[in-house]
Amino acid sequence: KPSFSDYFGKLGGIPMYKKFIEQFHNVEEFEARPDDLVIVTYPKSGTTWISEILDLIYNHGDVEKCKRDAIYKRVPFMELIIPRLTNGVEDLNDMQSPRLVKKHLPVQLLPSSFWKNNCKMVYVARNANDVAVSYYYFYQMAKMHPDPGTWEEFLDKFMTGKVAFGSWYDHVKGWWEKKKDYCKLYLFYEDMKQDPKCEIQKLLKFLDKDLPEETVDKILYHSSFDMMKQNPSANYTTMPKFCMDHSVSPFMRKGVSGDWKNQFTVVQYERFEEDYEKKMKGSTLQFHSEI
Ligand code: PPS
Repeated sequence: KPSFSDYFGKLGGIPMYKKFIEQFHNVEEFEARPDDLVIVTYPKSGTTWISEILDLIYNHGDVEKCKRDAIYKRVPFMELIIPRLTNGVEDLNDMQSPRLVKKHLPVQLLPSSFWKNNCKMVYVARNANDVAVSYYYFYQMAKMHPDPGTWEEFLDKFMTGKVAFGSWYDHVKGWWEKKKDYCKLYLFYEDMKQDPKCEIQKLLKFLDKDLPEETVDKILYHSSFDMMKQNPSANYTTMPKFCMDHSVSPFMRKGVSGDWKNQFTVVQYERFEEDYEKKMKGSTLQFHSEI
């Protein structure tokens, strides 16, 4: 059975897919443009959702235009490289401005060009428990990952940051700290679930854009979980089977807050919470408690 080290190396001390590391020099040398909008998330935190919303905003709610290509082509994932399918850096270089750029990197690994160009950034954070569960199912369906083992085993890896892109705790805190110095909007998946219209309004304000109410409602409707799940340009079903197997677990899996309650045992929950308190101690970052 292939092991962790068959898939991952380390980038700045952080577990990362070997393929990403091989071409990371292209990422580091990437030339940002001042009107790039960077979407940053820890994996499984609502990246695809916010990407779809932003593409709809950029295209004034023109739903057909937003079906022009798969989400990973409309909003390229810079580090991603799948031979004959996608190369994030090349796709971005070929793209007209204004570009939407997807990234999962921890704050210290973001290419310097984005800071130098003072690019706007939108960060989306999702509560750790749901991310861990979502990541567990993603590890099983997305073939770039080693076997996650049992849920118990995977949860341990998540808590110790031995998963792709490293520690969730460091990621959310690292980007939260940067909020003060840069032009960045920090959103929460749970808020998007609770009041998506309000979060779309926040995005519009941040982007200095104004859209008619009916366009906002249209965006709201087309970026809902049910609509995106049926939309081949948003649901990743156009990825070849050697990359993703949706019969194992669909990419658009459940799309809810609090699914962790169906996965964690009481013992796991207590251990997780105790560890969480230690890791998040001293941070002003707060996630919604009602999840
Ligand atoms: S990735 O692979 O890191 O880019 O994945 P990402 O898109 O960040 O996260 C996938 C999870 O987001 C859920 N999702 C949504 N939830 C609510 N509404 C909408 N529109 C939506 N689109 C995607 C998706 O179902 C994954 O979460 P889980 O909990 O696994 O269902």
